Amino acid sequence: MKVFVTGGAGYIGSHTLVALLAAGHEVCVYDNFDNSSPVALARVRQLTNRDMAVVEADVRDNDALTRALTDFAPDAVVHFAGLKAVGESNDIPLRYYQTNVTGTMNLLAAMDAARCKRIVFSSSATVYGEAQYLPFDEEHPIAPTNPYGRTKAMAESVIGDWASATPDASAVLLRYFNPVGAHESGRIGEDPQDIPNNLMPFVAQVAVGRRAKLSIFGDDYDTRDGTGERDYIHVVDLAAAHLAALEYSARAVGCEAINVGTGQGITVKELVAAYEAACGQPIAVEIAPRRPGDVASSYAATTKAERLLNWCAALDVDDMCANSWLWQSENPMGFEGD
Ligand code: NAD
Ligand code: WQD
Repeated sequence: MKVFVTGGAGYIGSHTLVALLAAGHEVCVYDNFDNSSPVALARVRQLTNRDMAVVEADVRDNDALTRALTDFAPDAVVHFAGLKAVGESNDIPLRYYQTNVTGTMNLLAAMDAARCKRIVFSSSATVYGEAQYLPFDEEHPIAPTNPYGRTKAMAESVIGDWASATPDASAVLLRYFNPVGAHESGRIGEDPQDIPNNLMPFVAQVAVGRRAKLSIFGDDYDTRDGTGERDYIHVVDLAAAHLAALEYSARAVGCEAINVGTGQGITVKELVAAYEAACGQPIAVEIAPRRPGDVASSYAATTKAERLLNWCAALDVDDMCANSWLWQSENPMGFEGD
């Protein structure tokens, strides 16, 4: 199958490329390297011993996108390209809407021009907002609480309307919970350009000596140990979910939103303990005030993914920490070293 992958050089994209190439698919990556490095693609080539086409361009560039899609003529698209920092989305909301919403609209129009009718989209559990009940199932009301989340909810709506209006179209909206970890080789992984916003990359940078200590944002939540509880999903499991979604999209029409998580909540303190075991050293922590906008708990109902995609997570928190640590310890400055 020919698969057009926007944002393929990024964290989740690069791991999905490994899975796609290993399964024998032909791939074209479309990425402007806004938050990624071509080194990641070189490492993917080394890991798989397979090549891929690469177009360096922006999803906001309608002409370039249409040209790339019509030239490649894919069977399906996986759409990772986007901006993802919640805090930053409050400061530069228009850039988020242009990239995440207009970029998605451009992509669908380019797919029409290239007569491509299958898309797998990177959505986020953040579209649910505050939990009205747990676990989050796909019927939970959509009520995002920040501009980033609203761009994802809007892009979902746009894709859903496109799928309704396009005969035989198939769209899968994958709502990721908290992707973490790295490829087991330690050759690719998450490489934040700035101070990490997310827990695991921050812990990894403390472990490797790039940061002095982790601030735990609140220990007075209504959870087992008072710290926030999340559904961490290994990025290699997440990559496999994309292949399952692509297979599903070949046999289904319409638009489905599907959670991608393990269904298990892990607290901040539990994750730190697992990381300490993986890296064999203590992680310095301090208790800090709650981070505005954070919720106590978030975890997925996973039955829809099992039913429709025949997919469930295989890797656990120890795998997540061990693989993250291998990546971080062998690449302390990320891809910058190459
Ligand atoms: P990432 O930043 O590593 O990857 C995004 C890729 O898109 C990067 O390679 C970047 O260069 C590219 N990109 C950004 N703007 C672009 C533009 N205008 N044109 C072309 N390419 C552009 O992020 P990731 O963690 O791999 O996330 C991938 C997708 O999954 C994003 O859409 C993100 O919103 C979504 N998502 C991520 C998480 C998470 O915690 N990592 C959770 C839920 C959903
Ligand atoms: C996890 C837990 C923090 C950092 C975010 C986005 C969401 C999605 C995934 C894209 C929480 C605590 C964190 C730190 C800490 N991204 N924490 N100290 O907030 O669940 O989700 O990333 O779609 O949209 O909101 O993930 O990794 O930031 O936080 O104590 O330095 O770790 O309070 O309990 P979150 P996270």
